Amino acid sequence: MNSNAYKREVAVAAAAEVPEGITLGVGSGSTVDAFIDALAERRIRLTATVAASETSARRLREHGFEVIDLNQADEIPLYVDGADEIDPKLHLTKGGGAALTREKIIASASRRFLCIADDSKLVDRLGHFPLPIEVIPMARSVVARQLVKRGGRPAWRENVVTDNGNLILDVSGLKIADPIAWEKDLNNIPGIVTVGLFALRRADHVLLAGPKGLRRL
Ligand code: 5RP
Repeated sequence: MNSNAYKREVAVAAAAEVPEGITLGVGSGSTVDAFIDALAERRIRLTATVAASETSARRLREHGFEVIDLNQADEIPLYVDGADEIDPKLHLTKGGGAALTREKIIASASRRFLCIADDSKLVDRLGHFPLPIEVIPMARSVVARQLVKRGGRPAWRENVVTDNGNLILDVSGLKIADPIAWEKDLNNIPGIVTVGLFALRRADHVLLAGPKGLRRL
């Protein structure tokens, strides 16, 4: 099976776990697209959904799900999202789809965060995948210089503007031995909106699909 087939497998398994009648937080990316389709195939009744990207919101609406603003949501019992890298402590790298800011906000506002992925995303240590960082446009160069001082090689993801009107720097070369310390440090650089490290709010559970079948961390 290829990685798309694993994404579909894990998406269907995650959709089967979602309780009816809740407000569901929904992330972004191709695995989440498959998850949204699987929710629709299950004909699940949800009170509402809160989406981490305009793309996910559109897909949810196309399937007939109500999408509400986070400000209208009382409580989000469950958030389901993908990841670019997952370490054994369930710290994540996210932002490959440039939706990291809204993803992090909804993840932080949710009681439970279920991460779904094909098992190629599991790594011993975060940092092989260039770390996405959302930056205020006027701060692109000053933030890039700060990242170089920390050993990173930032690359501007040209032609990408986030749903919040900001830019993305993809940073290679970082040795992320302590993701929590890195997240705290990078959060303090003026001009950075969101760091694609999800360590302070990591996943509560990870569901993976791969050649050995489904497994849960
Ligand atoms: C988007 C994300 C995605 O969850 C991440 O990039 C994984 O995407 P995919 O499911 O397409 O592999 O963080 O900002």
